[in-house]
Amino acid sequence: MTNPQILKFVDKLQLFIENKELIKLTLGGKRDQSSDLKKLIVTAVELKKGYCLNFVYRHNTKDITKNYEITEGIGMVTIALENDFLNAELFSTNENISLNILPNGKAKLKTTASTLQTTVTFAHDKSKERLINPHENIYLRELGISNVNWEIRREMSDKYKQINQYIELLAPNLSELSAIENLHVVDMGSGKGYLTFALHDYLTNKLKLNVKTTGVEFREDLVNTCNSIAQKAGFDSLSFVKGTIEKAELQKINLLIALHACDTATDDAIYRGIKSDAELIVCAPCCHKQIRKAMNVSNELINITRFGILKERQAEIITDTIRAMILEAHGYKTNVFEFISLEHTPKNVMIVGRKTSNKKTDKEQIVNNIAVIKKLYGIEKHYLETLLEI
Ligand SMILES: C[S@@+](CC[C@H](N)C(=O)[O-])C[C@H]1O[C@@H](n2cnc3c(N)ncnc32)[C@H](O)[C@@H]1O
Repeated sequence: MTNPQILKFVDKLQLFIENKELIKLTLGGKRDQSSDLKKLIVTAVELKKGYCLNFVYRHNTKDITKNYEITEGIGMVTIALENDFLNAELFSTNENISLNILPNGKAKLKTTASTLQTTVTFAHDKSKERLINPHENIYLRELGISNVNWEIRREMSDKYKQINQYIELLAPNLSELSAIENLHVVDMGSGKGYLTFALHDYLTNKLKLNVKTTGVEFREDLVNTCNSIAQKAGFDSLSFVKGTIEKAELQKINLLIALHACDTATDDAIYRGIKSDAELIVCAPCCHKQIRKAMNVSNELINITRFGILKERQAEIITDTIRAMILEAHGYKTNVFEFISLEHTPKNVMIVGRKTSNKKTDKEQIVNNIAVIKKLYGIEKHYLETLLEI
């Protein structure tokens, strides 16, 4: 017969679930010391099929995750308390309940005030439906953005927001790519891969496109880590290659992404996109050293380049304006905008070029207009012009 204290504890669990007050349940203190199972963590989750219980069985070297319907899940908790664990902590928005089963079989229940109020607010924050859903999203967990319960880790919430804002911004342009068969997406300077994974996830799982994604990165450690995460996530058509933006060997690119690639690496990426006739080029430039050094103002603009930080900002504006104009000269309808608020990252300008079949592009006129800007600021060449031999 089940210990009455265990039954009371399980009744409380059921009540918290029914009232949607459950934050989490943890079971620990293994009964059998030789068992590989150390801990069990249970949370309530909203799935397509309805409200369920998510079980994370924590073993010495791995986590195994399972979802159970509510009644079945409560039964599993009762069995685990009778056979596997001696301690349990139940956290709800109202109160916490602990259960300790003693070696003589007796059990003690203790109720204390709730301590995890804030966690549930975040875990159940449905105020904004995100395009990248953390639930059972393996790469987010492997990248450290979510925890074992698929909740966004507090310290990574900015990164998570940034990823979502980035996908939200790109989404209207991405649907235009759906007509392309065997879409090839290349992320130049993919780094830790946060945005590469999210984009691949969105294109394959939300838009159901047939996509091959390649991350190009010269740091071998990052390439290896990202490839191993891609494997764990089951993303067969996502891979990372060690190479440089300038020279990596790549097949035809349809969508080129370069986010925060340093200094002229953004130009190298744009160059590769233009040369590959990419349908969409998206970049968020990083630092802008080349034009700042090349500026040599000796006319009436001299005073507005006197102050270091203001000169730097002008260098940024000139660098990105010329990049956008060069894209236009090559038949890209180009937009430049802020893509995320400055509280998340100071590097927040995004340049998006969409290839058009507009035959009216007056390349010569645009090149002349660029020359006017360069003359004003005493600039000889923008690095991207050098690459394109304009
Ligand atoms: C600031 S990180 C940005 C990473 C990622 N795109 C993001 O936004 O999260 C820039 C990455 O580009 C890589 N990188 C810079 N220049 C590169 C080049 N020429 N070729 C390949 N990788 C490059 C760096 O190693 C670094 O990982």
